[in-house]
Amino acid sequence: MSTSVLLQPIHAFLSHPTPQSWIDEAIKPQNLTVLLADHLMCELKAAQTAMLLLRRYAVDTESADALLAWLKPFEDFAYRQVGDGDFSSYISLSKKLISRSNFADGDFSSYISLSKKLISRSNFAHGDELISKMVLLIKEELHHFGQVLEIMQARNMPYDNIGASRYARGLMQHVRTHEPAKLSDTLICGAFIEARSCERFAAIAPHLDPELTKFYISLLRSEARHYSDYLNLARTVGGDDIEERITHFRQVEGELILTEDDDFRFHSGLPSAVALAKTA
Ligand SMILES: [Fe+2]
Ligand SMILES: [Fe+2]
Repeated sequence: MSTSVLLQPIHAFLSHPTPQSWIDEAIKPQNLTVLLADHLMCELKAAQTAMLLLRRYAVDTESADALLAWLKPFEDFAYRQVGDGDFSSYISLSKKLISRSNFADGDFSSYISLSKKLISRSNFAHGDELISKMVLLIKEELHHFGQVLEIMQARNMPYDNIGASRYARGLMQHVRTHEPAKLSDTLICGAFIEARSCERFAAIAPHLDPELTKFYISLLRSEARHYSDYLNLARTVGGDDIEERITHFRQVEGELILTEDDDFRFHSGLPSAVALAKTA
């Protein structure tokens, strides 16, 4: 599938393309470390969000603990500077764990078993689908985390835990608090975050150095699938008002992208005069 075909539904889903002024800021050499450091954290947060959904809705306590243990070395490194940043063994473990296409019959099913009790208690009938889609997503986001880190380390870029932009928080503020609305809204937010990430990778890829161009193009396929997986899950669990909610979040997302931010980040809005002065 060509990049333009891959991006077509994403462009249709988002209210606005990324403004040129953000692209101009993102491709400034003096912003490259911030771009990669923030991208690194976005990959981890994407994995954490998916894991939170599994723990909240789909798996039992034992499985939730196993999920947390899977993520722990990545969180230790990112938040507590513990470890040397070599995640190859954890990533290959996650590949092995989900290598079977028939998930229900795979080894992983005993490791991450569905909790029937939890599902019936929350009246949640889509546990299998949520698990298969989210486990694949977590594996891929952690793999991306390892790839970004490897690029940063090879370039001797300092890794700092820079604060997040207001973007994801700004979307999640609109998530309703009662179920099943809370879950479907969260899944819609996931679809917008993945769609915008994919759109931005494609927008900046041609303007970066050859290694980063190749890397960002290589991310498009999986990020586009993450968008459609979230959206399909939202439509599966969502109620009659799902299209109305998608429209609502589309407007919120567009506003976050088209209003000003003082700090450049991967999901920041228009660069303000303050942001521009920092890289002038
Ligand atoms: Fe990713
Ligand atoms: Fe993703």
